[in-house]
Amino acid sequence: MSFKTSIVAVSLALAFSAQASTITKDNGAYVGDNQNSITAGENGSVLLQDVHLIQKLQRFARERIPERVVHARGTGAHGVFVSSGDFSELTIADPFEGAGKETPVFVRFSTVVHSKGSPESLRDPRGFATKFYTDEGNWDLVGNNLPVFFIRDAIKFPDMVHSLKPSPVTNLQDPNRFFDFFSHNPSATHMLAQLYSNLGTPASYREMDGFGVHAYKWINDQGDVKYVKFHWQSQQGINSLRPTELAKVQGEDFNHLTSDLYKEIEDGNFPKWDLYVKVLSPSELVELDYNGLDATKIWLDVPETKVGTMTLNKVPDNFFQESEQSAFAPSNLISGIEPSEDRLLQGRVFSYADTQLYRLGANLSQLPINAAKSNISNYNQDGLGNQGNTRSDINYEPSRHVELNENARSRAVETDLAGTVQQVAIKEQRNFYQAGVFYRDLSPQDKSDLITNLSGDLGKVKDDGIKHTMLSFFYKADNDFGRRLTQAVNGDIDRVKIMASSL
Ligand code: HEM
Repeated sequence: MSFKTSIVAVSLALAFSAQASTITKDNGAYVGDNQNSITAGENGSVLLQDVHLIQKLQRFARERIPERVVHARGTGAHGVFVSSGDFSELTIADPFEGAGKETPVFVRFSTVVHSKGSPESLRDPRGFATKFYTDEGNWDLVGNNLPVFFIRDAIKFPDMVHSLKPSPVTNLQDPNRFFDFFSHNPSATHMLAQLYSNLGTPASYREMDGFGVHAYKWINDQGDVKYVKFHWQSQQGINSLRPTELAKVQGEDFNHLTSDLYKEIEDGNFPKWDLYVKVLSPSELVELDYNGLDATKIWLDVPETKVGTMTLNKVPDNFFQESEQSAFAPSNLISGIEPSEDRLLQGRVFSYADTQLYRLGANLSQLPINAAKSNISNYNQDGLGNQGNTRSDINYEPSRHVELNENARSRAVETDLAGTVQQVAIKEQRNFYQAGVFYRDLSPQDKSDLITNLSGDLGKVKDDGIKHTMLSFFYKADNDFGRRLTQAVNGDIDRVKIMASSL
């Protein structure tokens, strides 16, 4: 081998072994020196013409986008959903059209109240958001690990979140503030009982269930409507941290949920969840002895049917591009699935898409993680960061030059209406009874952990009125629950009983 060819061979080997490439600026031009700024002589100032330096500093200063206003701390994974049958009698929704039908998914798990860099061990509901990249567009099932919610009307959401987030004065989360809010909202009793059980501190994201919480409508080819509630059941089982285990986890690795998910997927232990649905016809829904569209209620005693299984098998290549820029919205629905009339859900159908236009910009659905894998064909256009490839000058419909068909199967389902426009709370509130059912179903160990967890925060409440109002809610749910809690926070049980009797 000549001297010349051996140099070529060595440099080629180097190029491939270290993945060498030449550093460029954002316009693709080569960078001459990535170590030293351009200066006027040895002791002179840095020059404005150092485009590379300026670009680096400018891009660095713009690396952050607003964190999600809630659910800021999260972690995502890719996977696949496989339908376990043909459910076309219930819905024309694409993922359920036949046994074995595969739909790619991206899931983001999250905590709710705490900020982006916060410990994952803190008590919180956990978000369980799934994006189905179906053949007919993206469907987002944006749920939590608890089956109910604190409130039943979106108009209370900003107030509730303000009370749960750190104080605007001290920047500290404060039970005095959120129990003040909840003492005016007995609808939260069931959710608070669930949240302060050990379910509020899952041992891993793999070992928790997920719930759609609201009822949605499933619509078949004949336009028949069924109300459905979704439930992801973990094949790994449910495993939560007891109060005694929490401190240990916080000391060892407060990113334990992300660490666990990444490790298990990278080791090939792919977590799986079975998707179950509870199905009620519109007439069965109104026969329930509580409001079936109230997000503070579980549909007790309604059997579940398994409709598929989801496997998470790949972690993101890049956290920011995938998990952080992912945008899940209850308004991302597909043919065969519509929102129910649940007031909370109706507010969510607006709120997510709205906040994402602010957080990610008008063209958020062009980001690869959010882009549908099916064809997008409409005349929404332009806006910041648009990457469209529009070639036609027909950007309106109808036109004699381009035929853009509508799909009659995707029309809004017809729904009977009666009554008046009004601004009134729902009638059948029954704020306490399902919290009691939940408490009585717990094991003795889980009951005492719930008392420990809840009294830890309620015991910090200084205002006696707030404290006793909260105690009366839990007493009303279940006498034993309220009595033990009152004892744990040194409350006055006679006062609690009197207050509970007027609820
Ligand atoms: C009216 C009530 C609610 C409102 C107004 C609301 C609003 C929001 C907003 C603005 C975000 C941030 C979205 C983003 O920046 O991408 C969010 C995230 C989220 N919400 Fe809600 N929310 C409500 C109730 C609920 C309920 C009942 C659930 C569970 C069923 C839920 C589950 C989630 C989840 C899982 C996320 C995080 C999604 C992700 O991983 O990006 N929210 N919510």
